[in-house]
Amino acid sequence: MKTKFKITVIYDNHLPENNALKSSWGFACMIEGFEKTILFDTGTSGPILLNNLAVLGFDPSQIDTVIISHGDWDHIGGLWSFLDANSNVEVFLPGSLSAHLKDEVQNHGARLVSVGVDRVEVCSGVMLSGEMKGPRNEQAMLLQTADRQIVITGCAHPGIVAITQRLAEVAGGQPMLVMGGFHLKGSSAEEIKAIAEALENLGARWTAPTHCSGELSESLFAQRFGSRYLPLHPGSVITPESLKE
Ligand SMILES: [Fe+2]
Ligand SMILES: [Fe+2]
Repeated sequence: MKTKFKITVIYDNHLPENNALKSSWGFACMIEGFEKTILFDTGTSGPILLNNLAVLGFDPSQIDTVIISHGDWDHIGGLWSFLDANSNVEVFLPGSLSAHLKDEVQNHGARLVSVGVDRVEVCSGVMLSGEMKGPRNEQAMLLQTADRQIVITGCAHPGIVAITQRLAEVAGGQPMLVMGGFHLKGSSAEEIKAIAEALENLGARWTAPTHCSGELSESLFAQRFGSRYLPLHPGSVITPESLKE
């Protein structure tokens, strides 16, 4: 199990602190410290994705693996520009995405991995939930480190609690960070509080709702989790030091 890891938010609709980074609707993050260097989602715009990668010191050629959570354009939109910059990658796509889209990934020269409903190990310590049913089918990711488990979601269309529950089954009861899009825009304060409690009951010790989570859920999660709430924007970095009690 890895003790060192680094997650860097590349793409998000919150405003960055660094003016050279662009913010735009969508989500993408880089994961380093495992056998494979991974890009999870690609945002909406290829040029913004490539700009932010460069500003943050990443070269597309460093990346071995691209994981696409679901087919919405704010998650898959930057994929084609990325593959033009580096097609020597494997791309994990939810299996229900169209044959046309899968062909397009292979036409760009990348290796396609079509993910079904079962969990898939990307490499040691990196697990995908498998495609989960929702208003949009989606897969989420679990990073397993020495004593922390990290759930990363794109939009959480199948439900942030259902996703966390599915990944908590393999998390072995260790404390979890749950981060990414929680898709709670339009949810009431009562609904959001119940969701936060459910996540805590599943083992979430830290939370980092961003992208489509909504301002109300961000403020309610911040209230509940206090210093264990991690606000995210392009350029945010999460390391083991971020996950202190
Ligand atoms: Fe989204
Ligand atoms: Fe979405």
